[in-house]
Amino acid sequence: MSTAKKQYKRVTVKTLVEMKGNHEKISMLTAYDYTMAKIIDSAGIDVILVGDSASNVMAGHETTLPITLDQMIYHASSVVRGTERALVVVDLPFGSYQSDPKEALRSAIRIMKESGGHSVKLEGGSEVKESIKRILNAGIPVMGHLGLTPQSIYKFGTYTVRAKEEEEAAKLVEDALALQRWGCFALVLEKVPAALAKKVADQLTIPVIGIGAGAGVDGQVLVSHDMFGMTHEFNPRFLRRYLNLYEDMGNAVANYVKDVKAVDFPNEEEQY
Ligand code: KIV
Repeated sequence: MSTAKKQYKRVTVKTLVEMKGNHEKISMLTAYDYTMAKIIDSAGIDVILVGDSASNVMAGHETTLPITLDQMIYHASSVVRGTERALVVVDLPFGSYQSDPKEALRSAIRIMKESGGHSVKLEGGSEVKESIKRILNAGIPVMGHLGLTPQSIYKFGTYTVRAKEEEEAAKLVEDALALQRWGCFALVLEKVPAALAKKVADQLTIPVIGIGAGAGVDGQVLVSHDMFGMTHEFNPRFLRRYLNLYEDMGNAVANYVKDVKAVDFPNEEEQY
C-alpha cells in the first residue's frame, strides 16, 4: 500500500472519496477558534471538525447538549477564517435537526451562510432520515455519525463502547449503508469494536472516520484539546496525547506569576 501523499489545494468532499480510493488515510481534528484552526490547517490536516464537543472543552458543560446553533456558528466562522486547505465540517447541535426536517434544513442553511463552513455533520441513522435527505436535497454535504452519539447520552446512560451486541451492530451496519445510499459523503464511527468498524469501512465506498474505532477505517479524528493534552481528566483508551500542554501551560503561568511578583517582568528590553 502506497503512503505517498497527493497535495490538495482545498480538500473537498470529493477529495475524501478519492483518498479512500487511493488508500490514503484521512486525518481529522476538531477546532473551535481562529488561532487553533490556523495552526492545525497549516500543519496539513485534511478535515477540521467544528464539533459540538465545544460544549465540553470550550464552555465546560458536562455534555454536548447545551450548545446552541448561534454558538456553533460563532465557533465555525472563526475556524473558517483560520483555514486555507482543510475541509471544514460543522456539527449541527442537539435540537437543531431532530424534530422537523424543515427546521433541520433551516439550521444547516444558517451554518453554511453565516459561518462559511463547507458541510455539516449530524448524529443518527434511520431516526433522522428525512432531515438528512432534506439537507442533501439543498446541495449541502452531510457527514453522518454513528456508534456512540453523545447527543443521545441520556438514552444510553453511559459513554461505554457501542454495538458490542449483535442486534445493535446489525442496526449500525444497516444505518451506515443507508447513510451512503441517501448521499452522505462520509461517516464518523465513534467507540465501536474495531472489527465492526473495519467491516463497515470495507463495505462502504464513502470514507469512514473513526474515533475509538480501531485502525481498519479510512481515517481518524480526535478532539484537539485531548490530543494536545490540554485536558487531563479525560483518559479513554483510544486517546493518544501528542503533548502535555496542561502541565506545560500551567508551568508557564506559574513562571509568569513568579516573574511578575519578583518585578523580573517586564525587563528593560520589554518596555518603551
Ligand atoms: O463533537 C465532536 O468533537 C465529535 C467528534 C468526537 C467526532 O463529534
